[in-house]
Amino acid sequence: MSERGAAGPGPAAIQVSRIMRPDDANVAGNVHGGTILKMIEEAGAIISTRHCNSQAGEPCVAALARVERTDFLSPVCIGEVANVSAEITYTSRHSVEVQVNVMSENILTGAKKVTNKATLWYVPLSLKNVNKVLEVPPIQYARKEQEDEGKKRYEEQKLDRLETKQRNGDVIFPVINPEPHTVSYSQSSLIHLVGPSDCTLLGFVHGGVTMKLMDEVAGIVAARHCKTNIVTASVDAINFHEKIKKGSVITISGRMTFTSNKSMEIEVFVDADPFVDEPRERYRAVSAFFTYVSLSKEGKPLPVPQLLTETEDEKRRFEEGKGRYLQTKAKRQAQMQQAAQQ
Ligand SMILES: CC(C)(COP(=O)(O)OP(=O)(O)OC[C@H]1O[C@@H](n2cnc3c(N)ncnc32)[C@H](O)[C@@H]1OP(=O)(O)O)[C@@H](O)C(=O)NCCC(=O)NCCS
Repeated sequence: MSERGAAGPGPAAIQVSRIMRPDDANVAGNVHGGTILKMIEEAGAIISTRHCNSQAGEPCVAALARVERTDFLSPVCIGEVANVSAEITYTSRHSVEVQVNVMSENILTGAKKVTNKATLWYVPLSLKNVNKVLEVPPIQYARKEQEDEGKKRYEEQKLDRLETKQRNGDVIFPVINPEPHTVSYSQSSLIHLVGPSDCTLLGFVHGGVTMKLMDEVAGIVAARHCKTNIVTASVDAINFHEKIKKGSVITISGRMTFTSNKSMEIEVFVDADPFVDEPRERYRAVSAFFTYVSLSKEGKPLPVPQLLTETEDEKRRFEEGKGRYLQTKAKRQAQMQQAAQQ
């Protein structure tokens, strides 16, 4: 167990490892960001469900409620092993914070690289009544500061949730004969029937399955726009406000919102149509921003064609995307300076 995490009778850290296969990767052999997101979520779901069932009481399944902004630090390739380790770092009354590290390993040379660090929040839902949120057994901390830092992260994400607006009304319509490099030219959708293998024991979609499909659509948008090898660079914080039931048909749509010199921001929506046993109308289950970069054969980021905005809404979204880009760039630079000074 690391210094950061829980101590005493708390849950033990877990590690999930898997060799990366050709169907995990794009044509250039780089593993899809969505594959890694799915593995991260699986590890988080195991450790949090195990912890939430560690005391006598109603059995439950931990549902993914939120993923903090995640950066993909270096590409993972086919043949490498992805080692995903997860540990619980904070518990509130009804939620569990899980920190996950992903390390890629070349098992021929032993070379290892950190590829991701992600923070996920899970909420235990009763197996008897999926709408009932249960209490989380508290963990014990090795040091008081760990609890204080965890509480600070918990308060910060709660505040961020209040400030984040869902783009519920936005829909993506097909356009006939769009010009290259316009928003309409690369916008794309996938339609998926939610089957049992996509779902938890409660019969609702795993957050990791949804994130994988979202990354797939974002990747199609990026590839259509620049027609080169593209990889996921980061995913902004995602809140999972709505469950998606087995038997629903989900439409995952993506459109490009912003391009910098060497990056592309893609907004992705997931809309669910619950057909089976459910009188409910189509609803927006989740939305998120993915950032993609285009890589040369040597793995260096390439300039991307600039996005041509046509409508007032596209221009507004471009400016909003630019704001997010400048903000994260400034944060990254500040972190790098801080690290250099230590
Ligand atoms: C997560 C969920 C159960 C919360 O329901 P809710 O009605 O907001 O529940 P509550 O307001 O009672 O909150 C319960 C706990 O969840 C936490 N929570 C709710 N939404 C959250 C989010 N987006 N991120 C992190 N924690 C969240 C709350 O902080 C609270 O914990 P606390 O009391 O310790 O502070 C609900 O939003 C849901 O079912 N989401 C979908 C889950 C899912 O299916 N995930 C996979 C999607 S593909």
